[in-house]
Amino acid sequence: MVGCRLVFAWLRPLAAASAFMISAWALSAQDEDRQMDRFISSLMKKMTLEEKVGQLVQIPANFTTGPEVKTGDYRKAIANGYVGSMLNVEGVAETRKYQELAMQSRLQIPLLFGKDVIHGYRTGFPVPLGEAASFDLEAIERAARCAARESAASGIHWTFAPMVDVGWDARWGRVMEGAGEDPYYGAAVARARVRGFQGDDLADTLTILSCIKHFAAYGAPIAGKEYNSVDMSMGQFANFYMLPYKAGIEAGAATVMSAFNDFCSVPSTVNRQLLRDILKDDWGFEGFVVSDYYSLGEVINHRCAADTREAALKGIEAGLDMEMSSPCYSGHLADLVREGLVSEKLVDDAVRRILEQKYRLGLFEDPFRYCSEAREKAIVSSAQSHADALYVSERSMVLLKNAGDILPLSDDVKTVALVGGLSKSAHDMCAKWSCADESRAVTLYDAMRKRGVEVLYSDGYNLDTDEITGLEKTIEDVRRADVAVVAIGERGEYSGEMRSRGDIAIAAEQQELVEAIARTGTPTVVLLMCGRPVIFNEAREAAGAVLCTWWLGSEAGNAICNVLWGDYNPSGKLPMTFPLHHGQIPIYYQYKSTGRPASNGWWHARYMDIPNEPAYPFGYGLSYTQFSYSSPEVLPGDGGDVHARVRVEVSNTGDRAGEEVVQLYVRDEVASVTRPVKELKGFRKIALAPGESLEVVFDITDAQLGFYTESLDYVVEPGDFTFMVGTDSEHFESVAFTLEERTGKKKSKN
Ligand code: BGC
Repeated sequence: MVGCRLVFAWLRPLAAASAFMISAWALSAQDEDRQMDRFISSLMKKMTLEEKVGQLVQIPANFTTGPEVKTGDYRKAIANGYVGSMLNVEGVAETRKYQELAMQSRLQIPLLFGKDVIHGYRTGFPVPLGEAASFDLEAIERAARCAARESAASGIHWTFAPMVDVGWDARWGRVMEGAGEDPYYGAAVARARVRGFQGDDLADTLTILSCIKHFAAYGAPIAGKEYNSVDMSMGQFANFYMLPYKAGIEAGAATVMSAFNDFCSVPSTVNRQLLRDILKDDWGFEGFVVSDYYSLGEVINHRCAADTREAALKGIEAGLDMEMSSPCYSGHLADLVREGLVSEKLVDDAVRRILEQKYRLGLFEDPFRYCSEAREKAIVSSAQSHADALYVSERSMVLLKNAGDILPLSDDVKTVALVGGLSKSAHDMCAKWSCADESRAVTLYDAMRKRGVEVLYSDGYNLDTDEITGLEKTIEDVRRADVAVVAIGERGEYSGEMRSRGDIAIAAEQQELVEAIARTGTPTVVLLMCGRPVIFNEAREAAGAVLCTWWLGSEAGNAICNVLWGDYNPSGKLPMTFPLHHGQIPIYYQYKSTGRPASNGWWHARYMDIPNEPAYPFGYGLSYTQFSYSSPEVLPGDGGDVHARVRVEVSNTGDRAGEEVVQLYVRDEVASVTRPVKELKGFRKIALAPGESLEVVFDITDAQLGFYTESLDYVVEPGDFTFMVGTDSEHFESVAFTLEERTGKKKSKN
């Protein structure tokens, strides 16, 4: 357990115990844990069974993020001590109001306030998939830190983030909330986000609890359909989906959310193998597990429980600690214990886990410590937050095409034809799961008009129907302009929860508009605004340049202008493959070798009518400068954990400073099970001045070479491997390596 440092300024009568009088700063983490254990044990002795069950109950307030729930007289329940947590209460005034109610309860156990702070709070950041495109872990951590700062200053203790579900299917709208298709990269992002939210010390009033979600495999619904079943083997889960969850736990995430879907035919929310065996026993997770919204009640819809009583029984046995929104625990758990059907020990364990997090936040010291109007005023929407959002937004964009170096725009550009209502819509730019203050969001339209160029704006198409509007005027403007900048994409609300789409192509009308604009001969830049990979073949072929901007949040306009004019040289890479055709979905770079390997010749894994190749591969992204790579070489390891090292020299051969994401892929040439054709096993984002070169060295350890078996053993088999180093998952140079017998054949549990 990570100890937390608390200075107890004053103690409420309940907490008064002599041991607490020692200055906690002087305590070691172990002492602190012991002190916490004593405090919680003494508190739990005073709790009735109903009060214990109350701690396991989370109720929504104000608005819901799922089906409407009836919470009865929830104010009374809070005042009686029968509610442990609330979701969707925000703002110092509101949280204080509910906390005051909780302080009327017999034992005055503070409420925990949770909310989906997914990409920034009042200052909106790029959607998580966009942010992941930065491949910049420092920037990603910075974004989470800012979100934590602002939401904590607004009275919130806990975010239901990061979502770490690996997604291969762009039809699934929630790919927008994750880090894309790769488990190795997803694990790195999970760690960065947990660090960002929680910082080093949960007792710091500007940090919040994070929540690894959705455990498990929520990113793999069949056919990309939201809330659909998941069907996968344990080996598939372990090798392609598990890593980010595990990494988040290892980084110290305080909570985990169970998924809506079933896993190995048992709903995740009551899945003992997932929650108790893997998460708590094997991985040693000491935080608490919260259900997804009403997902315990929905076990009935899964037809795995006859009623809410059976759902409660299954939930507590499986290791579900807190129930979000549904009434199973509140309605039945106390009776189940009294009737001897559930051991009180299970309830106690869940209660302890929840109280521990409240303790770590310092809420027993002062239940109102997150409620400071002054702090809220100073921190929320501050200049610092906007500077952070700009920094992260610039790094999140991916340059997909730049024929004839149209970009960056030169000083000779005096008139810009800006086309597309999306460039003017703060609401779309803030996108789904937004907490952002849209009135403070800077649209592209606003930012461009401040750029000192003449901006000829036209809507181009109807935002709701996609119908082309005012074409004649648009074309007239484009002919007059030095460059046309056309914002196309899906609406901001088209990706996210409940936003699965069978058709992920950009509207035909929008693409026709790009073609018409390009036909004028005016250099045409397409800005692709989206929350998922989309198909836009006609537009990308017609345009001279394509910049994927995702949805960037509050600083979108400034960030896009900075990239258009070259104040920032784009450095993002795609964290998900962009398909060429719907029929390819799910498409991902780390598919497995087959008996008839993928190729476009006959008798191979292929389609008759469409190619295997994507529009843009995983890891792809251009820069305004060029990078060259030396051939990779294998250097000896250290005789210990490092089996070998792979070295490459990367040079900036262009005339601008730029950043490159150097990527290492590994293929196991012969294994006892089928393995992917390549897997990302290392990456480094480096900054190079023009003419500068840098040596990049990747350590090859067991983590780069092994795989999980169906029984979750991690195995490293000796033999031949290929290391591929390059600029994306399709452009690299390879080098061979053999892992000798004496260092190989290691086997370890998890
Ligand atoms: C989502 C979760 C979210 C929860 C609470 C659910 O519908 O799946 O990710 O945290 O609602 O808003």
